[in-house]
Amino acid sequence: MSSASTAAGKRYAVFGHPVAHSLSPRIHTAFGRASRIAVDYRAIDTTPANFTTALSVFADAGGAGANVTLPLKEAAYSLCTDSTERARRAGAVNTLIRRDAHWYGDNTDGPGLVRDLTDRRAWDLRERRTLLLGAGGAARGVAPALLDAGIGALFVVNRNPQRADALADQLGDPERVHARYFDDLPALGEFDLIVNATSAGRGGGDFPHLPASLLGRRSVAVDLSYGESAIPFLAWARANGCHDSTDGLGMLIEQAALSFALWHDLEPDTDALYAELQAEHARLVTGD
Ligand code: ATR
Repeated sequence: MSSASTAAGKRYAVFGHPVAHSLSPRIHTAFGRASRIAVDYRAIDTTPANFTTALSVFADAGGAGANVTLPLKEAAYSLCTDSTERARRAGAVNTLIRRDAHWYGDNTDGPGLVRDLTDRRAWDLRERRTLLLGAGGAARGVAPALLDAGIGALFVVNRNPQRADALADQLGDPERVHARYFDDLPALGEFDLIVNATSAGRGGGDFPHLPASLLGRRSVAVDLSYGESAIPFLAWARANGCHDSTDGLGMLIEQAALSFALWHDLEPDTDALYAELQAEHARLVTGD
């Protein structure tokens, strides 16, 4: 018999729509293997209309924890009985924990991004003048953690101006946070950090025009997507001379590690898995 401990009967899953291509089952299974915990983690495709029912079926079958991805993060926040402060500030939940027959919500996306940028890439975020492109669920998930990491001014730019205004208001830090629109970009000057949180590269239409004046020699750029979806933004950043850039694969792995720690009380090491997945994706993207 394996000496791995088992959380007998406990199940974990990622809910999303679509979710078949999610790397989360692979990531959590790998963390479990490395930590000698047998992890039963699967992907469950659920439309927003069916989410509440699917989640209660999952809980009845031993569901102890779940990740939530597009387009269900705001819905997950609404159906939690209680949630962490960072989930409340994001208005979105990516991690559900079953406690006393209720769902407790957290959001590890923002802390996962900050861990990837500061720990893995050694980017210093403090006082960085930051441009956040997009004001949807992904942007909401990361903005509070970027502010907590000590960035300087945060400019939120979105195609739909009301959404940019709403996110800026929700962040509740009017000294640092400013809503702007794509037409304003040429007048905004240089940014130290540019975060692409739009879904444009994920099939959301043509990638918006970005002026080269946003980038300087010190600028770093991150796309919250990974693989092919991140190419349009990262190609723009690299072609216009950014200092460094990355896609969201590191964030994906770090947010998963933080969820894993919440469920299993154990922090998995992420470096080996990151290297493995990054090599795979680099091959896929370059066609090698
Ligand atoms: P997610 O959870 O991935 O953030 P979302 O909530 O649907 O998904 O938000 C998508 C974000 O990408 C929004 O900020 C959206 O802008 P609008 O609010 O104006 O719709 C942005 N987006 C999507 N396609 C875009 C495009 N082609 N150009 C610019 N922004 C785009």
